[in-house]
Amino acid sequence: MVKIFAHRGYKKKFPENSMLAFRKAIEYGADGIELDVHLTADEQLVVIHDDTLDRTTNRSGTVKDLTFAELRKAKIRTGRFTYERIPLLKDVLDLLKDTPLELNIEIKGKTGGVLEARLIELLARYSMDERLIISSFQLESVRRIKQLQPALETAYLYSRYVDRPWQLKSVYLFDGIHTNTFYTSEDFAAKIAAEQLNVRLYTVNRAVDIAYWLKTDVDAIITDDVELAVNTKKFI
Ligand code: G3P
Repeated sequence: MVKIFAHRGYKKKFPENSMLAFRKAIEYGADGIELDVHLTADEQLVVIHDDTLDRTTNRSGTVKDLTFAELRKAKIRTGRFTYERIPLLKDVLDLLKDTPLELNIEIKGKTGGVLEARLIELLARYSMDERLIISSFQLESVRRIKQLQPALETAYLYSRYVDRPWQLKSVYLFDGIHTNTFYTSEDFAAKIAAEQLNVRLYTVNRAVDIAYWLKTDVDAIITDDVELAVNTKKFI
């Protein structure tokens, strides 16, 4: 069965990369959660998509230049009078550790290897390795993770058309490919799988695409619309 990953949590209805969106993804039946991590100035792993606070919070500033205490002052608006704060990755691991859900951690930013080292240290405190997938657009990050902890599943993430992405596997040591739905046919996904690589598609949001991909042999779809995907899967 194709798994359903909640893209930045249940993003369609709740603020992306917030604890609320992650709790709702669990509540509505996602098989996994996808989220983005950056490193703060004081080397904390925080969950946010952009390099800056500007788009998703009421503050501005660059994540890597702020300490976690400074960053915690930023509010993510959820309703007229209610707010969420930018979560630590640790908060999400605590939320998921007693659930069956998988977690796809996407490494963001120019890391210089520090983020990867902090990530491996944090993950070592949880017995969740078999439910974790570490992905990145930056192949160097993907390789570092595998070298630091071979037990972790890694994935090469790309957004444009790549002719034979599996050919990079021998150099960057990834276990799977997260491919953009715009550039992926069922045939192409099958070619990736034939190379013994897991295939996950993002971001699959239209009803017609969700229904289509849920009937294929890909490992997972990553979607903003958890409810629609979960309800569609019941009829597949
Ligand atoms: O990880 C899949 C997808 O989320 C990648 O795109 O822009 O959301 O990081 P983006």
